[in-house]
Amino acid sequence: MKEYRITLLKGDGIGPEIVNEAVKVLNRAAQKHHFCVRYEEADLGGIAIDKTGVPLPQETVDKCKSADAVLLGAVGGPKWDNQPGSNRPEAGLLGIRGALGLFANLRPAVIFEPLRASSPLKEEIIGEAMDIMVVRELTGGIYFGERGRCEKNGVPAAYDTELYTVPEIERIARVAFELAMKRSKRLCSVDKANVLESSRLWRETVVRVAKEYPEVELNHLYVDNCAMQLVRNPKQFDVIVTSNMFGDILSDEASMISGSIGMLASASLAEGKFGLYEPIHGSAPDIAGQGIANPLATILSVAMMLRYSFDQKEAAEDIERAVGAVLKDNRTPDIYTPGTNRVTCAQMGDLVCQAL
Ligand code: IPM
Ligand code: MG
Repeated sequence: MKEYRITLLKGDGIGPEIVNEAVKVLNRAAQKHHFCVRYEEADLGGIAIDKTGVPLPQETVDKCKSADAVLLGAVGGPKWDNQPGSNRPEAGLLGIRGALGLFANLRPAVIFEPLRASSPLKEEIIGEAMDIMVVRELTGGIYFGERGRCEKNGVPAAYDTELYTVPEIERIARVAFELAMKRSKRLCSVDKANVLESSRLWRETVVRVAKEYPEVELNHLYVDNCAMQLVRNPKQFDVIVTSNMFGDILSDEASMISGSIGMLASASLAEGKFGLYEPIHGSAPDIAGQGIANPLATILSVAMMLRYSFDQKEAAEDIERAVGAVLKDNRTPDIYTPGTNRVTCAQMGDLVCQAL
């Protein structure tokens, strides 16, 4: 029987609750699809600061590196807001992305049929089925560029640098083209090439990589236009590829179209099959410990893990199907509509297991 080793980074806030439900579902999927999972836990974010003084202890990096995949809950909270920037929980998240070489962040924005009415967009704008894949570069650009404080014209100032190398752009472009080949063969590259030199290099490089994929129809949008088009006519998009910061912003926007940010999963992939999987939402400290968080984004992240790291396509589709089925009648408070059953985080996990 195949065995997979997973490192769990439960993190802060609702992180532990949602990861526990995702583990339940993964164990049920393992039983049904005949594979076996072993878990190890490690600390990341605020909890790691509390225990060791830093958001990303070396032990955590080592435990992640020795696993087949990583499942992450969420990090951060008001308790650590006064930490210096380089020691915030978020710095731990960026640190683990960098340390594990997770350069390709896949953020699918899909609408589950029972949640169509929850989208803030009108039904006729969403169309039949919205299914956008945002491919965000995750270990370069302004998130990782040189930054600092300085003085300009005798007054205090600060700077962050957007820098991309050609190989960094090429490898993320290839991930996006490969995905486009498996989907509708349409790719939209998003940049700000009318202003930024780094964007001009981005565009030139994407155009060059496109020659390797003559079947893919490539177009380019400036990021401001893309943000507008996402709410004007989201149906025009299939795969979107963009830089670290633009991807951060556009993926939040795209996610909201699907009704709730509590529904969206993500995969952060390294070269090869290794990946870290996490919901795209945060640690929601305001509802932590109440058992009312929505575990579905984390459960769907497990489905992505099965698909991208373990080649367990059937098990992945099974989980997605189970989530769709459970959503017909059952909702956590964030997606509740009258006429459905209001369920807790743990009940939602149990229901998905039963539907499996
Ligand atoms: C995300 C988050 C992170 C990011 C934060 C928490 C550092 O917003 O994963 O989208 O900006 O990448
Ligand atoms: Mg974000």
